[in-house]
Order: sequence, then C-alpha cells, then structure tokens
Amino acid sequence: MLTTSHYSPVASEALVVGEAHLPRLGFGTYGMSGPRLEEILVAALRHGFRHIDTAQIYQNEADVGAAIRTSGVSRHDIFVTTKVWVDSYPADRFSASVDQSLRDLKSDYIDLLLVHWPRGSVSIAEQIEGLNQAVDAGKVRHIGVSNFNVDMMQSAIKFSRHPIVTNQVEYHPFLDQSLLLKAAHVNQTSLMAYCGMAVGRVFESPVLKEIAARNKRTIAQIVLRWLIQQPDVVALTRTEKFERIVDNVRVFDFELSQEDMQTITMLRSPGSRVVNPAHLAPAWD
Ligand SMILES: NC(=O)c1ccc[n+]([C@@H]2O[C@H](COP(=O)([O-])OP(=O)(O)OC[C@H]3O[C@@H](n4cnc5c(N)ncnc54)[C@H](OP(=O)(O)O)[C@@H]3O)[C@@H](O)[C@H]2O)c1
Repeated sequence: MLTTSHYSPVASEALVVGEAHLPRLGFGTYGMSGPRLEEILVAALRHGFRHIDTAQIYQNEADVGAAIRTSGVSRHDIFVTTKVWVDSYPADRFSASVDQSLRDLKSDYIDLLLVHWPRGSVSIAEQIEGLNQAVDAGKVRHIGVSNFNVDMMQSAIKFSRHPIVTNQVEYHPFLDQSLLLKAAHVNQTSLMAYCGMAVGRVFESPVLKEIAARNKRTIAQIVLRWLIQQPDVVALTRTEKFERIVDNVRVFDFELSQEDMQTITMLRSPGSRVVNPAHLAPAWD
C-alpha cells in the first residue's frame, strides 16, 4: 500500500480558470469499466493522477466512485469531471441524471459537469440552463461544454450565469485547433484535450520519434507535455496498461523548447479528425 508520501505532487498542477483549478492532466476512462477499471484507476490515483474524466454514457461512474474510495486518496484531493448525455438534456431529465451520477460516483458533488455534445433534442440555451441549475443546487462546482465549435462555445458563455470553464474537444499534434484555442483565450476559458494520442498515429511520426529520443522521453510524454505546455490547455490521457500510468504522469519534470513546441504544432494536417459522429457533431471550425 502506498502512502501519501509516495504520491507525485506534480500531477495536481492546475490551470486556473476563474475560481476553478483544473488539474492539467486527467485520466480518461472511455471504454473501461468493472474491476479492471477500478484497479487501473486506483493505480493511477496512487501514482499521482488527481483528475478523472468519466461520462454518463460510459456507464462506469459507479466504478470510478468505487476506485476513489479504494484508493485511499481523499475525495477532496481528486477532481472529477463527468458529462450529461444528450438524452438527458430535456429539463425534466437533466437534474435526475445528475442525481444518478452523484449516487454512482458516491459523492455529494461533481467538480466539473459538461454537456457531452452540442446537438441534442434541446437548444444550447436549455442545456446551459440545466448546467447552471446544477451549480445553483450545490451539486456541481464548475460547468463546461464538450465538442462545441467556436460559435456554440460563445453562445454557451453568453447564456450562462456561471463561468463556462472548459470546452473538452479532440486535440492532438495532427489536428489544428488554433481557432478554438484563440476563442478560449479571448473568452478566458480553457480547452480540455481528448484523443491526444490520435488513436496511435503519434507513435508512427518520425518527427515525434526524433524529439522523444533527443529529450530522452517517450512519445506519449512528449505529446502530453506539448498539450499542457500551451497556456489554456488541460490534457486527458487513458491507458489500460499499468506500466504506462507511470510513464504518462511524468510530464511535469521537463519542458519542451519553443522550437520543439512549434515543430509539433506544425504537424497539423487536414483530414486528421478522429471523433466525428454524424448525428452528434457540429460543423467544426
Ligand atoms: N468528450 C468526448 O466526446 C470524448 C471523446 C473521446 C475521449 N474523451 C475522453 O478523453 C479520454 C482520453 O482520450 P482517449 O481515450 O482517446 O485517450 P488517448 O490517451 O488519446 O489514447 C488512448 C490510447 O493510447 C494508448 N496509450 C496511452 N498511453 C500510452 C503510452 N504511454 N504508450 C503507448 N500507448 C499509449 C492506449 O493504449 P493502452 O490502453 O494499450 O495503453 C490507448 O489505445 C477518454 O478516455 C475520455 O475520458 C472524451
């Protein structure tokens, strides 16, 4: 059993957005559930991760709640992000779905609640009202959106009484997100990057291989460092392999040169988006 002295303090380094302190690195849970997820998450928490990303649609919030309890890390030291699924956007279902998330997470609050995709059966104004009411009811500390384009993000900010602290979107070296990043900066919000490994494409890049070798780091560490070294970005990472947890959390003890940052940014190329469900996705920027 690890004690708190073994925890890496660095993984809780936070991006401050208004009153929200978003740990720069989060552990994603998409596609994982049951005892295996619990084991992986306990290991992730004991190795220093302090931010967990889940969602109602992942059907694993109960496993996340169980892992937090088993880990021995105080709930208050962990930042939990979850997302309301589109079917629960109507006003009569929104609040009940948040209550179910709380029961499953075995927690009396959620650190960050997002709406998962902008296209649902209700307007963005109604989605944002559902988030705001969850804050007013004391169930949620911070709110945000996911998979919103620039226009939608600006609408969300306009409609909201509470700050929209992030827009969780796909972001990796091959995908140009400069427009969203600029809009996030101007509107004093953040971008939370998912799919950083571009479903494995990063591991094939000769440019990333060279930068990793020269910096004596793995490609995963280089990509995560590139993400979190940008001013308004929080990164999510996911692995089902215990040995990679240790690898992926070690991104706070080195810096990339400005030249390497720029070289990685220039890997962007058209047609690199991975996650694009036709019935849910907006017109991307
Ligand atoms: N809001 C949304 O619509 C949305 C959409 C997608 C994802 N997300 C969230 O974002 C999280 C992260 O995205 P993602 O799941 O696409 O994660 P990711 O970190 O981009 O990719 C995970 C993949 O990379 C591999 N990997 C991770 N670390 C590695 C390492 N050090 N070396 C080699 N391979 C490595 C993993 O394989 P192994 O498991 O074999 O290590 C896995 O196949 C999700 O889990 C979810 O929580 C949100």
